Amino acid sequence: MGLDKKYINYFHNVSVKAALASHYLVGKKDKILADKAAVDAMRNQLNKIEMCGRIVIGEGELDEAPMLYIGEELGTKKGPNLDIAVDPLEGTNFAANNLPGALSVIAIAEKNNLFHAPETYMNKIAISDSQKGIVDIDYTIKKNIFNLAEHKNTKPENITACILDRPRHKKIIEELMRLKVKLKLISDGDISGALLVSQENFNVDIFLGIGGGPEGVLAASALDTFGCFFQGRFLFDTDKDKKRANKMGINDFQKKYELNEIIKGDSIFCATGITTGDLVKGIKITGDKFYSETLITHKSSRLKKIIKITQDL
Ligand code: FBP
Repeated sequence: MGLDKKYINYFHNVSVKAALASHYLVGKKDKILADKAAVDAMRNQLNKIEMCGRIVIGEGELDEAPMLYIGEELGTKKGPNLDIAVDPLEGTNFAANNLPGALSVIAIAEKNNLFHAPETYMNKIAISDSQKGIVDIDYTIKKNIFNLAEHKNTKPENITACILDRPRHKKIIEELMRLKVKLKLISDGDISGALLVSQENFNVDIFLGIGGGPEGVLAASALDTFGCFFQGRFLFDTDKDKKRANKMGINDFQKKYELNEIIKGDSIFCATGITTGDLVKGIKITGDKFYSETLITHKSSRLKKIIKITQDL
């Protein structure tokens, strides 16, 4: 059946309002406050929407997050049953330090179509072409790069790889350098990092490495509409992680998830810029108006667009 188009506007408004709320705290060196502002605004707006919404990816579980926790029900309790994934402030360091790339992100699908993800790390890989077998998280870095270069009819030195700049990626980064691949090392913000494979003008051929699991699911929901390839494997290091995963119905801790196991059916994704980054520009206030840019995707109507609007404050 799909999600009615009116929900595009509703959820666009949610991410814009969360971005605006967080914008006031940009550069204040307080990531908790900047996050809280986005969370409060997002929750407030979500509760106005005609839906029986349920958070499947949120700020954590009830014991650690009073708001937008996994399992929280939102909306007017009339209307369609929706699964909601949120990252009200993606890039808390970016917002606190007034650096490029802070976003407010939300994704929705019909009930039981969006993956229930615990708050653990995920090993991820993404490229623009949805064809299977070109790259795979289980291939070596060399095989992935050589396959991708061959598929693109080019050489490894012309391939650009985006990866979080973390000590845990030392070996991967060294291998990419040995292969003469161009690096795009990001300090944070791997939803945006993964989405850079979606369009040629971003000049990123492959996104890979370990980042947040929730961020992986959110990125996957937009990459699905872009017709990209994405795979993820959650990393459950502690017994606590495993217990939580078990509670969410995950029994196979080694499972590699394909895109169609993370997101099914129709979906809407909105990412509004808080500070200007690679994907979208940040919030700009002029007088009594504000400007926002949001990357929006809606699978069933094939919408993939940056919407720029100026509104009254
Ligand atoms: P926050 O907005 O929660 O600070 O997350 C930023 C981020 O860079 C994510 O984009 C990424 O998935 C994750 O942190 C990586 O985690 P870590 O900083 O522990 O490597």
